[in-house]
Amino acid sequence: MLESYLFGALIAAAAVEAAQPGAVKPVAAPMRDLTWGQLNFLHTTDTHAWLSGHFLEPSFSADWGDYISFSQHMRKLADDKGADLLLIDTGDRIEGSGIYDGSVPKGIYQYDIYAQQKVDLLSTGNHELYKAYSIDMEHNTTVPNFKENYIASNLDYIDPKTGKRVPQAQRYRKFKTKNLGLNIVAFGFLFDFTGNANNSIVQPVADTIKEDWFQAAIKEKPDLFVVIGHVGVRMQEFKDIFTAIRKEDWDTPIAFFGGHLHIRDAVSYDSKSLAIASGRYLETIGWMSIDGIAKKQPKEDDDEQVAAQKGISFSRKYIDNNLYGMYYHTGLNETTFPTKEGRKASQMIEDARKALDLDHRYGCAPRDLWMTRAPYPGKDSIYSWLEEEVLPSVVVNEDRKDKPRLAILNTGGIRFDIFKGPFTRDDTFTVSPFNSGFRYVADVPYEIAAKVIGILNSQAKIFVHGLPNTRQLTIPQQMYPRPNFDEETETVEDGQDGVELGGFGKEGPEIDEVVQDDENEEEVRLELRGDDGSSDNGELFGGYTTKDDIGKDGDDTVHKPIDFYAVPNCIQAEVGFSADEKPKAVDLVFIDFLLPWIIPALKFSGGDYSAKDVEPYMEGTLTTKLAEWISDNWKDEC
Ligand SMILES: *[C@@H]1O[C@H](CO)[C@@H](O)[C@H](O)[C@H]1NC(C)=O
Ligand SMILES: *[C@@H]1O[C@H](CO)[C@@H](O)[C@H](O)[C@H]1NC(C)=O
Ligand SMILES: *[C@@H]1O[C@H](CO)[C@@H](O)[C@H](O)[C@H]1NC(C)=O
Repeated sequence: MLESYLFGALIAAAAVEAAQPGAVKPVAAPMRDLTWGQLNFLHTTDTHAWLSGHFLEPSFSADWGDYISFSQHMRKLADDKGADLLLIDTGDRIEGSGIYDGSVPKGIYQYDIYAQQKVDLLSTGNHELYKAYSIDMEHNTTVPNFKENYIASNLDYIDPKTGKRVPQAQRYRKFKTKNLGLNIVAFGFLFDFTGNANNSIVQPVADTIKEDWFQAAIKEKPDLFVVIGHVGVRMQEFKDIFTAIRKEDWDTPIAFFGGHLHIRDAVSYDSKSLAIASGRYLETIGWMSIDGIAKKQPKEDDDEQVAAQKGISFSRKYIDNNLYGMYYHTGLNETTFPTKEGRKASQMIEDARKALDLDHRYGCAPRDLWMTRAPYPGKDSIYSWLEEEVLPSVVVNEDRKDKPRLAILNTGGIRFDIFKGPFTRDDTFTVSPFNSGFRYVADVPYEIAAKVIGILNSQAKIFVHGLPNTRQLTIPQQMYPRPNFDEETETVEDGQDGVELGGFGKEGPEIDEVVQDDENEEEVRLELRGDDGSSDNGELFGGYTTKDDIGKDGDDTVHKPIDFYAVPNCIQAEVGFSADEKPKAVDLVFIDFLLPWIIPALKFSGGDYSAKDVEPYMEGTLTTKLAEWISDNWKDEC
């Protein structure tokens, strides 16, 4: 897959205006071209309401309105080529940014702004399902907004009025593409999620694919199957769907679009199928194209007959979400690029941000604090900062403030980095979007309480009765074994055994640690984001350097790699005692998300506690406490 490397005009970049006022300008960089086919796709996933784009990162500073303009131009290009273009979204549209989390009730601006985009196929993520409220909102707002484009192959809704269980949306969709008239059968799945609120039912994928409607749908002999889902592209659920389809239909091409793990990735399940995952947070717009699709009932049309004989080919790209790239791929500029609909959405975002006061400044961050770009523990780690500075100061119950305590937080509860500079109301939601409060078990013998963190951080298959999978506690990028690339195994720190990383179809054991030395940097392709430095002299700047099953040419922008350091499942602050003087007993304080893990872990450590022993520790959530701490401690001007 040879593609041209072109250095874009550096001068043009200086004139680029990002749609949200105050967002940084993109930086010119060498680009790889998109490969067009008969059928082409743009894919977003795990946007988590980052509709404003990223204000401080040039690689991702375009907003949802820019994406609307971009997709309109791309549809026009498809029309001009006599090809087709479909837009896909695979869920987790909510929770994670002020545009959603900043309003009461949540999302009063988000749903409408999101719906300005014409998405052709969309499905549900786990984040739409944690709260009864957001499940209702999918049912009464997002599904009506997108009608037959919304697919819910394994998700049901409980109607609050009748108590009846109904499909959240249609199970699958059969349609013809606009220009080529390709027949498509599309599904929309969610992984086997179990943490959903009780007005929804997620049916395991393995059961769903046995149902009559699914078995009938895969016998349709379309020109193409499209399977979209909030599922990692190497997870068992997609494997099961692929296997089920291939059992009935050995040669119809299948395009898979996945997500959930917040990474860029592509897997070729067989020569007639490709799966891509398109990152997170509106950093990435995934691109897939397919050529050589054989029409099952060809018209009297020579071109299509030729196409049928060419054989199927797939291509993929991960587009950095910024205007420089959007101009590049469309051949337009700042005057010709924005469309009426795109501008309207950008304006809606700007208005919502004002109404929600998202730019309100709580303080000024004195330095960058990273989730995975700096080692943990370490001075630049956001987790060390929480352990050493924030938690000791905010985890206080006035009535028990003399009691020593351990405070535990799961790393997955933190969703984004903090950049040096203004820390705003919007940032409180990007860093800590969940409404998690603090609970505790009082007066736990120290030697029992101290064992809990080790159990929560264990990755090996230790068997602790009643303990849910500890992988759910960490950041999405580490929730599932990473693919094996060149090597079968990767060594781990601390002299532990090498772990085999699970590729598609062979799930390896959990990753204990990801090695971070220079030698291995090539292997590490997760969570890579742009520098804010410019690249005046043609030097590459940091960003995603994706390596997937297709190769190393997936990113549309050529970057130099950024480090990725593994983090544990949980972190712990020791409060009210010193390391060399261990107390007899402590209050075991934890973020309430951890409740299902804490009691089994305490039992395993020799503490016979039950849910009855758990009480609220203090008022407030991690998010509100973070904002308070920052207001008190980061008072300097920026
Ligand atoms: C949808 O459901 C939510 C939550 O129950 C409710 O607040 C909202 O008013 C409903 N909207 C519509 C349009 O019915
Ligand atoms: C779900 O749980 C809530 C509160 O626990 C309860 O009031 C409600 O009836 C339940 N709904 C269903 C559909 O089971
Ligand atoms: C944008 O492109 C149009 C059409 O090619 C051209 O007339 C115009 O001068 C360009 N504007 C800028 C700012 O480059």
